[in-house]
Amino acid sequence: MITSLPHVILALLPVVLAAPAPAPLPTPAAVAAKAPNPMITARAVLADRIEQRDIIDSITGLGSYLSSALGTYPSYIASGVPNFFQDFPTGTAVESSLGISDSDLAATPTQVLNIPGYANWTEQGWNLRFRGNVYKQPNISESKLNDLANVFLIGTSVEALPPAEATQARNLTAEIFVVQQANVNVTMHIEPAPSQGADGSSSGSANAITPGGGAQTIDVGETTVEGDFDTFIPLANVSGSGGYLLPGNDTTQIQRINVYTNGTDTGNATSFLVPTAGLTIISDIDDILRVTRIYQPADGLLNSFAKAFTPWMNMPSIYANWSQSIPDFHFHYLTTTPEQVTRNYMDFIYKTYPGGSFDTRPLNFSDVSATLSIRKFLLEKIFQTYPERKFILVADTSNSDVMKDYPAMATEFPGQVKCILLRNTSSTDSGDKFPYDTSGFKGLDNSTYMFFNIPDDLTGLDIVNGQCVNSTIKQNITFSTQGLPFGLSKKSAAVKIRSGLNGAVVAALVMAFGVVSGVL
Ligand SMILES: *[C@@H]1O[C@H](CO)[C@@H](O)[C@H](O)[C@H]1NC(C)=O
Ligand SMILES: *[C@@H]1O[C@H](CO)[C@@H](O)[C@H](O)[C@H]1NC(C)=O
Ligand SMILES: *[C@@H]1O[C@H](CO)[C@@H](O)[C@H](O)[C@H]1NC(C)=O
Ligand SMILES: *[C@@H]1O[C@H](CO)[C@@H](O)[C@H](O)[C@H]1NC(C)=O
Ligand SMILES: *[C@@H]1O[C@H](CO)[C@@H](O)[C@H](O)[C@H]1NC(C)=O
Ligand SMILES: *[C@@H]1O[C@H](CO)[C@@H](O)[C@H](O)[C@H]1NC(C)=O
Ligand SMILES: *[C@@H]1O[C@H](CO)[C@@H](O)[C@H](O)[C@H]1NC(C)=O
Ligand SMILES: *[C@@H]1O[C@H](CO)[C@@H](O)[C@H](O)[C@H]1NC(C)=O
Ligand SMILES: *[C@@H]1O[C@H](CO)[C@@H](O)[C@H](O)[C@H]1NC(C)=O
Ligand SMILES: *[C@@H]1O[C@H](CO)[C@@H](O)[C@H](O)[C@H]1NC(C)=O
Ligand SMILES: *[C@@H]1O[C@H](CO)[C@@H](O)[C@H](O)[C@H]1NC(C)=O
Ligand SMILES: *[C@@H]1O[C@H](CO)[C@@H](O)[C@H](O)[C@H]1NC(C)=O
Repeated sequence: MITSLPHVILALLPVVLAAPAPAPLPTPAAVAAKAPNPMITARAVLADRIEQRDIIDSITGLGSYLSSALGTYPSYIASGVPNFFQDFPTGTAVESSLGISDSDLAATPTQVLNIPGYANWTEQGWNLRFRGNVYKQPNISESKLNDLANVFLIGTSVEALPPAEATQARNLTAEIFVVQQANVNVTMHIEPAPSQGADGSSSGSANAITPGGGAQTIDVGETTVEGDFDTFIPLANVSGSGGYLLPGNDTTQIQRINVYTNGTDTGNATSFLVPTAGLTIISDIDDILRVTRIYQPADGLLNSFAKAFTPWMNMPSIYANWSQSIPDFHFHYLTTTPEQVTRNYMDFIYKTYPGGSFDTRPLNFSDVSATLSIRKFLLEKIFQTYPERKFILVADTSNSDVMKDYPAMATEFPGQVKCILLRNTSSTDSGDKFPYDTSGFKGLDNSTYMFFNIPDDLTGLDIVNGQCVNSTIKQNITFSTQGLPFGLSKKSAAVKIRSGLNGAVVAALVMAFGVVSGVL
């Protein structure tokens, strides 16, 4: 019995059930029974007379299922779009849900997720961030993995998927059902990393060098109760056959080092010594570097749990060009996807995009109240680490935290944000019915940000010299809620709702407005 599995998945059901395509139910019938198929009766009213409040009123009148979904599962709407990557079981919850004993587990090897880090230059020399998780992977039978994986799928099952997708679904599910190890001492060994490309791990990156020395062993300390470690530790300036590490205030070049975890071969990473001055790109991943369609729940689940990660259009060639043409450009991938699935994200990125450091959602940020602040926390951490570097921020409009936090960085760290580039998922994907809020951009210099439609819109931009805007791309920014279905304003959308949109769209609107206006 899966006890602590995503409430979120349950919360998804009303929306999905209301959508046109009927779907077999992966979760308890009780939930299904509560979800009617709502139709809204049209009322003769003038668009201009209708206030947002009326939208909410008409929706709350829909029946108990919406309010119960919203009331019971506020986490589901936390970021304005379905956030199914949440509330994964951890530690003992995994053990008990799988019925495995401590002694079974003791026999399995300890593994370490070692997330590629970054170092800044300080009075004490290079100061490197070590971040990751120590865990054990229980031995779960294939049939049990299938059962667990089916909880994450809507309208299909692992058994019905093509073999490659079934394997991927089991792989991800196994990564989620790990038992994190508290109070384990972690030791790392550092070596200069061979020049990029030599290990075949990363495309289009010629922007880091191999340092002459720096080999050493570092005590990272004990893991937290969640099995995590996240700490900055100064590196000693030790010589190697080719000399020393270069000081960060005396070079513009990024130095690559390999960081091996002692005692396991599961914890290898490449980290980056990033100079005091220069340019860093912070890039989100879902729906900007890969096709997720997170705003289409059934699709988003399939793309996240079963299908091979697919690059979004020709975005890889845009990043490859930047990596090759911008000297010493530091790539940092910052996604709020949970730590448990980090390996799959890294695997995709390093095969498809330039090498770089990485950030995903630490386990102590897994609860609902922390979910909204995680991006800000991670952004502030890297900005504070490099007070003299400039940043290019890239993501898409489907994350409400991005829409607030990216412009907030420009205000909080004046002069450090060079460009904000946001893909408008509503403009190119008619399946995206979720509104987005551009009010965070009010007051920002409009030459420093651009909303765009396709990767080609970024072609030829001289971002190094602050050219962030492609003047051929119409911007349409209202500094308020945008992207309502049919290009309508908030007011006229109410009429459409009342004249009978399907339940999925209505639910989407409720969620978005619930967050935007705080009415619910
Ligand atoms: C470089 O950094 C070191 C250590 O912080 C400092 O001692 C040195 O003066 C700096 N050099 C320059 C040129 O700023
Ligand atoms: C996992 O369990 C199966 C039996 O359920 C057993 O055959 C297999 O050897 C185990 N694998 C490991 C790595 O322990
Ligand atoms: C899942 O796939 C990733 C990426 O290919 C791999 O690194 C990882 O070891 C796999 N995990 C499991 C539990 O099989
Ligand atoms: C971890 O290492 C520290 C310092 O060497 C030591 O004091 C501590 O007892 C160790 N913890 C464990 C759980 O072994
Ligand atoms: C390390 O020491 C060498 C020799 O003193 C010096 O040339 C080099 O700049 C130092 N590097 C760092 C990172 O401190
Ligand atoms: C860690 O591994 C390195 C390289 O293999 C070795 O030199 C070092 O002694 C090891 N340290 C510990 C504490 O095991
Ligand atoms: C990690 O690095 C060690 C030392 O180079 C190597 O033996 C091991 O195969 C690597 N592990 C993986 C999974 O690549
Ligand atoms: C280096 O990074 C640490 C951790 O973010 C930060 O506290 C420190 O101020 C930074 N040092 C410098 C010189 O920027
Ligand atoms: C930026 O703002 C100026 C006036 O403040 C306006 O003239 C211009 O059209 C705006 N540019 C874009 C791309 O919206
Ligand atoms: C601006 O509006 C036009 C016309 O509706 C649309 O084609 C375009 O995609 C929009 N631009 C962006 C960046 O959303
Ligand atoms: C601007 O966008 C258009 C349309 O995607 C593209 O053809 C063009 O190369 C882009 N760059 C510039 C500098 O106009
Ligand atoms: C490649 O990137 C550079 C630096 O931003 C830019 O100047 C150039 O126009 C880009 N080339 C293409 C084809 O986008």
